Amino acid sequence: MKLPHLNELTTAYRYYAYGRQALVEALRLANVLPGDEVLVPALICKDVLSSIHTVGAKPVFYQVDKTLAPVLLPNSSLIKAVIAVNYFGFAQDLEPFFDYCRKFSVKLIEDNAHGYLSANIDGVLLGNRAPLGITSIRKTMRIPDGARLHVSDKQLSELLPDQLQLNEKPLGTRYLLQQRFSKVERLTRLPLLRWARSIVRLRRFLLTGEFITTSTTLAETEVVVPVGPRESSMKEIQKLDEQAEVKRRTELYDRVSSALDKSKISPVHGHLPENCTPYGFPFFGDTEAAKDVQRLVNRFGVEVIRWPDLPEAVVADAPDHYSNIWLVNFL
Ligand SMILES: Cc1ncc(COP(=O)(O)O)c(C=O)c1O
Repeated sequence: MKLPHLNELTTAYRYYAYGRQALVEALRLANVLPGDEVLVPALICKDVLSSIHTVGAKPVFYQVDKTLAPVLLPNSSLIKAVIAVNYFGFAQDLEPFFDYCRKFSVKLIEDNAHGYLSANIDGVLLGNRAPLGITSIRKTMRIPDGARLHVSDKQLSELLPDQLQLNEKPLGTRYLLQQRFSKVERLTRLPLLRWARSIVRLRRFLLTGEFITTSTTLAETEVVVPVGPRESSMKEIQKLDEQAEVKRRTELYDRVSSALDKSKISPVHGHLPENCTPYGFPFFGDTEAAKDVQRLVNRFGVEVIRWPDLPEAVVADAPDHYSNIWLVNFL
């Protein structure tokens, strides 16, 4: 058995329903107060902004290049925390962030929402590399909720609130059906989940006139109230065969990569780094290319999704590589 890395032993965890709630707690522990600023990548989803908004702070954006690494980290005396994102479960190089945080005495938060079970090349679990981290486990597993706050800084861990009470709600029919469908789909290759998704979209279209739910600017200013996850979700997390899941995801990455070898898309990453457990296969391409990719990966029972739903302040001047990024989601 692999021995846990030193900081896996010293990192304290608290569980929440959603990653954005864990982030609110991380920002509070970083002592981000109303009127402060938080440095956040411009390539981000609206939910992260809602956490910043909830503590009364203002987001200051930094740009990322096509490798999804920061271009420049701007400074201001109001900045109290910096968020570094492990996009799609790939370890972000934290060295520039550590330098920045040392220089300006601000706290680093490792946003590992996408990277449950993923580690860096030294085998350190993502989310545990900075004083504060978050992981949205529900993005890697079919559960209705489940996210984690990681506190690796000894002093901060002394300020950590108690674990919030777990919710007694069951997993719910939708998740049980999805889990069953997904198992059957993997065994038989019958696209049950795809059919179910089409039915859901058709129903939504008939009710609202839209096939996909689009979030509004309101999503950026929603007040996030931290609550505990369902006990039933926590049981699913404990039951997960982690090694089998890591193997499934890493093998799927290779198979999807080979299947897309001759397509028009550009993968975000040239290869899968050692110890990386990917959220999926990220690529750049236009809508037509994404449709082609969906056709090519249908046989693996996986779905192509667009990420992120960019913040309003970013969308107008967003460089192409923010708007044409897609993910073959391995859920
Ligand atoms: C990078 C990132 N951080 C945080 C979150 C928030 O996670 P959750 O949806 O569990 O609140 C998301 C959600 O999409 C995300 O993509």
